[in-house]
Amino acid sequence: MEEEIKKIKDISISEIKNCSSKKELEELKVKYLGKKGELTLVLRGMGKLSPEERPVIGSLVNKVRDELNNLFVNKEKELNKEELQKRLKTENIDVTEPSKKIVLGSLHPITQIIKEVEEIFLGMGYEIADGPEVEKAIYNFDKLNTPPDHPARDIQDTFYVNDDIVLRSQTSPVQARVMEEKKPPIKIICPGAVYRSDSVDATHSPVFHQIEGLVVDKNISMTDLKGTLEMFAKKCLGENTKIRFRPHHFPFTEPSAEADVSCFVCGGKGCKVCKGEGWIELLGCGMVHPNVLKNCGIDPDVYSGFAFGFGVERIAMAKFGIEDMRLLFENDVRFLKQF
Ligand code: DAH
Repeated sequence: MEEEIKKIKDISISEIKNCSSKKELEELKVKYLGKKGELTLVLRGMGKLSPEERPVIGSLVNKVRDELNNLFVNKEKELNKEELQKRLKTENIDVTEPSKKIVLGSLHPITQIIKEVEEIFLGMGYEIADGPEVEKAIYNFDKLNTPPDHPARDIQDTFYVNDDIVLRSQTSPVQARVMEEKKPPIKIICPGAVYRSDSVDATHSPVFHQIEGLVVDKNISMTDLKGTLEMFAKKCLGENTKIRFRPHHFPFTEPSAEADVSCFVCGGKGCKVCKGEGWIELLGCGMVHPNVLKNCGIDPDVYSGFAFGFGVERIAMAKFGIEDMRLLFENDVRFLKQF
C-alpha cells in the first residue's frame, strides 16, 4: 500500500507541476483530493489493513495530502501571476497614443454679429424683444403707417400666406407689438429673420436678418437717436467710426434718415469695401411717426420716440470681408470655421 501511495504522490506531483491552467488544476484537485479522489479512496480502503499498519498508512496519507495541498496552493498562485502578466501585456493602455480630435463648432457669423450687437445695447439698458416671423399684415404694414397702396405691400416684394398674413418683410412689426403691450419708457432691440421676394445674388437673399431698435419716452429727440447710433457704431465698428445722416423716407418715421458710417476698413479714404466712397450705408432710422404711436395706443402729444433698423448680413459682410452673401447661407463648414 505504501508503494501505491508513493506512486500516487509522484504522479500527482508531476501532473501539478506540468499543469498550465486553473481549470486543469481544479480537475487535478478533484482527481486526487476530492471525495472520490485517489488518495481518499486509499483512506477508505484502510479497513482491510492490520491494526499495526493503519496508523502508519494513515499518517503517510495525511502527510502526502498536506504536501499536495501546499502544491495546489502554490501552483494556483503561480498561475494567477502568469494570468495577470498575460493580461497586463495584452490589455495595456498606450497613454501616448494621440486621442481622437473633438471637432468643436463655432458660431455662425450672423449669430456672432447679433450677439455682439445685443451685448452693446444690453449695456445701454435695452431689452431684447421677439416677434413672429409669420406676421399679420396689419402689424407688418398698417399699424406702421404703411397704406394699402404702398409698393412694399406688393406681392412682387412680400411673401403672402393669405391676404392678411405675410412672412414679415422687416423687424419693424415688433415695434408695434411691443408698444401695444407695454407703456413707455420702452427701450428694445429686436433681432430676427425677415423675408422678401428677392432673387438670390451676391447681395440679395429672400431670407436675411435685421435688428430693429425702438425707444419711446417723454422728450426723446433726434439728438438721442444720433448719439445712440454713434455710440453703437463706435462700439461695433471701432472707436474712430464717424456717422452721418442723409434724409430719407420711411412711412413709420418722420423725419426719416439713412445713416452711413465712415468706412472702418480704410477710415474714409476710399477702398474696395466702401466702393471708393469712404462711407458705408448702415441703416434706416427716424423719429417714430405720430400715427404709429397713435395706432399702438400711445399718446403722441405726451410721448415721442426714435427707431432704427439694419441688416445683419451687410454688417457681417463688411466686418468679415465677405463678398458674396450666398456664402452665409450655404453653410459650408470650410467657410464658416474661418470666423
Ligand atoms: N424697416 C426698414 C427696412 O426694412 C428699416 C427701418 C427704417 C427700421 C427706419 C426702422 C426705421 O425702425 O425707423 O428697410
